[in-house]
Amino acid sequence: MKERPIVSEQEMQRQREYMVRVRALEKRPKRYHIVTMGCQMNERDSESIAGMLSAMGMVNEPVREQADLILYNTCCVRENAENKALGNVIWLKELKKDKPDLMICVGGCMTQEKGMAAMMKKRYPFIDLVYGTHNLYKLPEYVYRVLTEGEPIAEVMDIDGEVVEGMPEARRCRFNAFVNIMYGCDNFCTYCIVPYVRGRERSRTPEAVLEECARLRDDGAQEIMLLGQNVNSYGGGGARFAELLYRVDQLGIPRIRFMTSHPKDLSDELINAFGELKHLMPQLHLPVQAGSNEVLRRMNRRYTREHYVALVGKLRKVCPDIGLTSDIIVGFPGETLEQFEETMSLVREVRFDAAYTFIYSPRAGTRAAEYPDDTPYEVKSERIQRLIDLQQAISLEVLEKQVGKRERVLVEAVSTRDSMSVGGKTPRGHMVNFPGEASLIGQFVDVEITSAGRNTLRGRQIMTEE
Ligand code: 5AD
Ligand code: SF4
Repeated sequence: MKERPIVSEQEMQRQREYMVRVRALEKRPKRYHIVTMGCQMNERDSESIAGMLSAMGMVNEPVREQADLILYNTCCVRENAENKALGNVIWLKELKKDKPDLMICVGGCMTQEKGMAAMMKKRYPFIDLVYGTHNLYKLPEYVYRVLTEGEPIAEVMDIDGEVVEGMPEARRCRFNAFVNIMYGCDNFCTYCIVPYVRGRERSRTPEAVLEECARLRDDGAQEIMLLGQNVNSYGGGGARFAELLYRVDQLGIPRIRFMTSHPKDLSDELINAFGELKHLMPQLHLPVQAGSNEVLRRMNRRYTREHYVALVGKLRKVCPDIGLTSDIIVGFPGETLEQFEETMSLVREVRFDAAYTFIYSPRAGTRAAEYPDDTPYEVKSERIQRLIDLQQAISLEVLEKQVGKRERVLVEAVSTRDSMSVGGKTPRGHMVNFPGEASLIGQFVDVEITSAGRNTLRGRQIMTEE
């Protein structure tokens, strides 16, 4: 793959100048609030957005109603994500009645959909700025223009995105960081809107990725997650993903993970990396989507169930304790009961640690949206419930097997359920909660697993002399 032109340094300089110009304006928003929807890619984009808004002299405001710039970073992978975004935006209209100076910005995947920006401009004239996925780097210029010209802007670039380097950033966490290695997707799975809204695959150079990882390491990162829609087709500077991973491993960051992998492209070289690399965690998200070869063919996944199962066999041979997770779609157009049962049997056969399950949601412009679909929604709901029940039972069994083990946990946060406990992940990716203080956040702690819950483990800290 394909490296794409990088947005010129001259253009980035122009945007930096706009940040300074916004900062110098007397009447400008002082506090921003970002709502991030969707996947880790959007979370990473929101860090860039936060960086740009900070450079424009604004500070983060955790309470949405108290902010004077509200930005929605949207998702459109399923219809409910879109409905949620639009519902929220309509609610903002009311807020703006009381706060006429409130600046409302909406961007990301949903606004990049064909015709969406024009529709929003017409139906929601109270939105000050609509931008897409390919022109995020122009945010400073747009904010400046809205403030000085007083007119709303709706601008989405149709051309495929370029690689943008050097945007400011405000990282959400110091010890746990996302690093983009590539953008876009060329796979065109027939249900998926991502290739249409995120554009063609393009990679960052290995040098840019390594430089960012080294900087994060020097800044205290204990764990990094390399991000791409399909990391296996990384091709920056002609390097393969596995090569990049070997080089990142040498930087000495304690924990490395990556997502997402496509089963058709998961090479033996990459599988072997799980046995060889010191810092690569034994965890892989490998979306299978369906267990029936006929459904996989109509999804344009370009692998078979047998291929997938063989990959899992190889992975477990190289790394017996690998934690595998997956995405599964239920009720793809034309999915018969037998075909659904094949998904159930695959789940029984593979035994994922966890799986994210979705009812198929038609997306305008994708091929599957044209496929006839005569399965009633209630039937799809029953199917997904059966799948969820099955996966929960398997997840619980997997978690129960961890009881009694000693694990090293990177503490991430105070537990949401119990303020006297903290939580973090094991190498395999299981979340463990254990009694401990917030001062442990960002540190590695040795924990003995004492019990298993539905989605998480409980443990107790092991003192060094034990
Ligand atoms: N309907 C339901 N689920 C979808 N996904 C992607 N597109 C759709 C759709 N149209 C799921 C896939 C993918 C995950 C991120 O979202 O399982 O792996
Ligand atoms: Fe969508 Fe398929 Fe690309 Fe994943 S690989 S982003 S499911 S088109």
